[in-house]
Amino acid sequence: MTEQTYLTLNNGLKMPQFGLGVYLIPDGKETIEACLNALKLGVRHIDTAHAYQNERGVGEALKQSGLNRQEVWITTKLWPTEYGEGKTAIAIDKMLSRLQTDYIDLLLLHQQVGDYRGAWKDMEKAVKAGKVQSIGLSNFHENLEDLLQLATIKPAAIQVECHPYFPQHELKKRMEKYGTVIESWYPIGHGDKNLINEPMFTKLAQKYGKTNVQIILRWHIQEGNAVFPKTTNPQHLRDNFDIFNFNLTDEEMAEISSLNQAKRYYNATLSEQEHFLHWKPAD
Ligand SMILES: NC(=O)c1ccc[n+]([C@@H]2O[C@H](COP(=O)([O-])OP(=O)(O)OC[C@H]3O[C@@H](n4cnc5c(N)ncnc54)[C@H](OP(=O)(O)O)[C@@H]3O)[C@@H](O)[C@H]2O)c1
Repeated sequence: MTEQTYLTLNNGLKMPQFGLGVYLIPDGKETIEACLNALKLGVRHIDTAHAYQNERGVGEALKQSGLNRQEVWITTKLWPTEYGEGKTAIAIDKMLSRLQTDYIDLLLLHQQVGDYRGAWKDMEKAVKAGKVQSIGLSNFHENLEDLLQLATIKPAAIQVECHPYFPQHELKKRMEKYGTVIESWYPIGHGDKNLINEPMFTKLAQKYGKTNVQIILRWHIQEGNAVFPKTTNPQHLRDNFDIFNFNLTDEEMAEISSLNQAKRYYNATLSEQEHFLHWKPAD
């Protein structure tokens, strides 16, 4: 297997471009096992969130792996009920304790509702205090410009729904001047068979001796996106990480991007997103 790739963030840090996403993996045994399997394989990036309620499992796996803290990139996310000056600082300390670590590699605001302004101030302070190395956003659309205006530290990454049906080229262009990288959630459409079985992927899979999913993940890598497909299936994990030994041509990359249907699997208006403030993840 050829070496995995890294993205250089706007603060100079190098983030492994491929990781394991742990959304919907139950905390405890399942999360620990999924993360340990990934770490044993050489995956060095885990994407979790307070809302996933499995940060403890991620922290435990990190400890059990025997790897040095510096060898693994941990991303987690604050939920809107934790936003606010002073309040966010407390939430960050709780995260550190759940993850059994003294710093977070990348901390994101999970959603664009609530007091994200106050939260960003505390996140900037946490960077200065060394508790967090990089800060960024997730799911910011309508409120993105406002956040960018007030941010002294510009977001290192923005995590959004991104896949060949919704390649996020406009956002990428918009964020170029800040050096903000795109992180793809639902990278394989949350497992959507319509996306995975697109004839174009089947054709390319045959050409390269790969699976359709590997073709999609390779497209993300060559697009410059960070990607962390979720899986608890060891064979899927091995396949997903085995994407660094072939290259799609420029024509093939363009062909895949032409599948763009401006199709988002998750579409909620800003006012619908306000309901995020009515659910509080347990500490
Ligand atoms: N910021 C946000 O709001 C947000 C939202 C959603 C997701 N995320 C992040 O993005 C990560 C990925 O998104 P996601 O988990 O929702 O969707 P996804 O990674 O696009 O798809 C996951 C689904 O695909 C299946 N799968 C994985 N590898 C496969 C393979 N090689 N062949 C066939 N099927 C495969 C998985 O099942 P198996 O387990 O059976 O393999 C699972 O059902 C999340 O875990 C999370 O970290 C962030």
